[in-house]
Amino acid sequence: MKKLQAKVTVVGAGNVGATTAQRLCEKNIANVVLIDIAEGIAKGKALDLAEAAPVELHDRKIIGTGDYSLTANSDVVVITAGIARKPGMSRDDLLMTNAKIVSSVAKQTYKYSPDAIFVVVSNPLDVMTYLVQKETGLPSSRVIGMAGVLDSARMKFFIAEALDVSVQDVIANVLGGHGDTMVPLPRLSSVAGIPLCDLLSKEKIEAINERTKKGGLEIVNHLQTGSAFYAPASSVVEMVDSIVNDRKRILPCCVKLNGEYSMNGVYTGVPVKLGSNGIEEIIELKLNQEEMNEFKISCDHIKGQIDNLSNLLSGSPS
Ligand code: LAC
Repeated sequence: MKKLQAKVTVVGAGNVGATTAQRLCEKNIANVVLIDIAEGIAKGKALDLAEAAPVELHDRKIIGTGDYSLTANSDVVVITAGIARKPGMSRDDLLMTNAKIVSSVAKQTYKYSPDAIFVVVSNPLDVMTYLVQKETGLPSSRVIGMAGVLDSARMKFFIAEALDVSVQDVIANVLGGHGDTMVPLPRLSSVAGIPLCDLLSKEKIEAINERTKKGGLEIVNHLQTGSAFYAPASSVVEMVDSIVNDRKRILPCCVKLNGEYSMNGVYTGVPVKLGSNGIEEIIELKLNQEEMNEFKISCDHIKGQIDNLSNLLSGSPS
């Protein structure tokens, strides 16, 4: 019988993973396997979510495990495994610790679900997405990083707040890497079709750009013990929904550029069409010179990080 329900493996039962699992079930998007090296955490959170189903009124299955064989034949694998940053740390400080974890997770999940589409969430995001593609050998259209949806969501929220309008009418675009060099694009942002620059002063727009770039840090500084998870999980779920329901949403995602934007081989955030085949199209926005310069700086930073990782993995000094 034709498989009717999508199966999504979420690796990492921490805050991002567990919240992603919750939303995937409760929004009726997929059955979920929540897997963690800390098996008890995965089992406990999954059982707790399953016991919420009679109240939330959904029939999605969710299991928690530490056994990768139970992830077999997943349609989508979401990788959230790794440590989150603490105050005083940049996402780049997580590089080596998370590279080891993500590399092992990528190999184990790929073994059981070679046809899956991989959505990477671990930081530093752009480099971890590169690593998952390298470890799995999958076509780059099937390995996608989650960052642009989150960064754009933050920008949308700040715009809606500044104008006292519904978030639903705001379009915002953030490209580039998921870090200090990300590139908010106010010129291509709007409210109900009205260009942002007609609605807010240059100073206010600049303040929104800056707050967007530091959006993750703002939360880290509040929490002190970890990083954001509600908005990151919502962003993953929007991407997974577009994939498993073949919605072909146009979403900013971290992908490998193969000549687009005059970049080759780098993983960075650009708008893509996301459907059941993963990345079905990379959309090339017409950037002006200033935007292109910023985008290039961001790509160069990521290239440097990928080189650092390659040197560390091969044991040579970075
Ligand atoms: C953030 C982390 C998840 O931006 O990278 O909040």
